[in-house]
Amino acid sequence: MSIRYDSVDRIFHLQTVGTSYLFQIHPKGYIQHLYWGRPIGDADARYIGRTVERASFSPNPDPEDKTLSLDTLPQEYPAYGTSDLRSPAYEIQMENGSSATELKYVEHTIASGKPELQGLPATYTESDDEADTLTLVLEDETSGLRAYVSYTAFEKLNAIARSVRFENRSGAPIRLIRALSMSVDFEHSSFRMLHLAGAWARERHIYTRALTPGTQSIESRRGASSHQHNPFVALLGRDATEDYGDVYGFSLVYSGSFLANVEVDQFGTTRVAIGINPFDFSWLLQPGETFQTPEAVMVYSSEGLGHMSRTFHELYRSRLCRGAHRDKERPILINNWEATYFNFNAEKISAIAEAGSELGIELFVLDDGWFGNRDNDKGSLGDWFVDKNKLPNGLKDLAEKIEGMGMKFGLWFEPEMVSPDSELYRKHPDWCLHVPNRRRSEARNQLILDYSRADVREYIVSVISDILGNSPISYVKWDMNRNMSEIGSAKLPPERQRETAHRYMLGLYEVLEEVTSRFPHILFESCSGGGGRFDPGMLYYMPQTWTSDNTDAVSRLYIQYGTSIVYPVSSMGAHVSAVPNHQTGRNTSIDMRAHAAYTGAFGYELDLTKLTDSEKAAAKEQVSFFKSIRKLVQFGDFYRILSPLDGDETAWMVVSKDKKEAYLAYFQTRNEANAPLGRIRLKGLDPTLRYRIPDSDSIVGGDFLMNVGLPKPQTWGDYSSAVYYLKAE
Ligand code: DGJ
Repeated sequence: MSIRYDSVDRIFHLQTVGTSYLFQIHPKGYIQHLYWGRPIGDADARYIGRTVERASFSPNPDPEDKTLSLDTLPQEYPAYGTSDLRSPAYEIQMENGSSATELKYVEHTIASGKPELQGLPATYTESDDEADTLTLVLEDETSGLRAYVSYTAFEKLNAIARSVRFENRSGAPIRLIRALSMSVDFEHSSFRMLHLAGAWARERHIYTRALTPGTQSIESRRGASSHQHNPFVALLGRDATEDYGDVYGFSLVYSGSFLANVEVDQFGTTRVAIGINPFDFSWLLQPGETFQTPEAVMVYSSEGLGHMSRTFHELYRSRLCRGAHRDKERPILINNWEATYFNFNAEKISAIAEAGSELGIELFVLDDGWFGNRDNDKGSLGDWFVDKNKLPNGLKDLAEKIEGMGMKFGLWFEPEMVSPDSELYRKHPDWCLHVPNRRRSEARNQLILDYSRADVREYIVSVISDILGNSPISYVKWDMNRNMSEIGSAKLPPERQRETAHRYMLGLYEVLEEVTSRFPHILFESCSGGGGRFDPGMLYYMPQTWTSDNTDAVSRLYIQYGTSIVYPVSSMGAHVSAVPNHQTGRNTSIDMRAHAAYTGAFGYELDLTKLTDSEKAAAKEQVSFFKSIRKLVQFGDFYRILSPLDGDETAWMVVSKDKKEAYLAYFQTRNEANAPLGRIRLKGLDPTLRYRIPDSDSIVGGDFLMNVGLPKPQTWGDYSSAVYYLKAE
């Protein structure tokens, strides 16, 4: 059992291969956090908790016991209004206007396996022995609010998943105004906080800063997890590095607005919580109704950031992603977006596809512009009918032609959007998110369909199913190109308007569940102007995401390095594009572009008919080399070696599960004259195995490669790179 309960001391012990997480039922019914870190035994757990009387302004809940203060007690799911003055995990408003509550222990259950989260993406088990789930039933007697706080401990996968279900057991409505997915208190604040931030074409760059007293939070208010902030935060022990020290990671399985809140209080303790952003959120619970929060996944590593990342990678790759493609090597694709933008016809598409098939590329993806009247981004979203001017013989004919070339066919959609200039909008102007008597602000000339409405969802599922069912389509790119404004739904009453954004997410998840299960053979890739919704919620439905609209090889080093903090290589779409790069104007060699893209779901995004003969030969070689390492890079263990944030070099590698194969990529963005000789110390190899060094006769031990290192390549010019495939003899 990965969850044990000591009924004498009333202590819960969640234990995985790499961590222990303990809390107890306080004699007064509060849930007191005790410990989270390296694995420990059970025997002395009751000595962990301590309370002292402090001279402070915080009121005490028990007049007889001045040592008990909720404002200092480490807690598992803290309340607001009853004397804990730090950030609460949840807050309600009762009919009488009051917000004060106090959740206390009622009972609990421990069961093997993991139940599904109704209507929400979540990690899962394939057999009950992979994990245990504890559900604490807590109640606030005065309001009649119940919270079912659940913890799943994945024993081997080494992670803890948490979520909460609220239930209104009173006879009156209760309004939830904050409902975070988890909260945990640490005894100290000797941490640096790491998070992933950026913008369109600059996603998920790594930022770290020391914690200071007060609140430091990251959030999205955009109705999407966003380009700007990823729903993830980590706390690093002061001396923690990539390979050593304590690291705690928190990741939210959700694709909408979120909050990750870190508060350092007056006594230097740290409270971390993550969940749906309470900003502009409320949810009315009528008597008997329930509300389920999204899931938060918590990972502890005693071996630095790299080990935390590999734990997330394995869990998300194998027990969050689903479907037929989860464990399959992903096809090498050619996408026409940067090749043609909106300017194409059937001949042009066939010519690019033909060139792709000659190189050994396996999938052609037709991007934006194939439907309605879409010669630019000014209209037609919502009119999912093929543009006969561009494709006179229709999609089926084109798809069959491409299949005839020995490739699969894939198609782009942006199904959550509507252009004001579209048949759909003219027919249903109230089908978009909007607020009465206010401007409907457009972004990229488009509005957002109101997925909180069942009629909108039904329409979209049926129109997309028609297309997917009538042509041989093997891949779908599901795009989403704006954030929310004027958030409101014509279908919701005034008292439920603040539910719109979350209802939208629930509606989106319902549509994704329906479409992906109707077409299980299709590989879905999510996209949001590149990586504007690269989050675990989307990965549950679609096992890969277009990492960024920035395809520049140098920019990609930062973006993919940052993305790898949480997300597995198999989930990152990465393509070779033309130079000068369309987003940065930079020139890099076709080799470096491929080297950067190999550690991902690899493909091309340029006009293959314009390649020179030598570029064609290079691309052909790349395609065949990638096929030889694809299984290794997409399903092996990923190690970061040199960070682009630390200088001009980047290196990362992937090691197969049996450690018999490894792949290393090294990049140098700025060359140094007369540079020192350096070595790259590899990671993750078997020290007892001997590996053949490519292009040489050398066979060297894993111990040497990891401790002495591989000589750095001598480079000439800026933007150079090298890749190595190592195989144990
Ligand atoms: C944004 C995506 O990230 C691009 O790859 C492309 O599909 C465009 N949208 C099309 O409009």
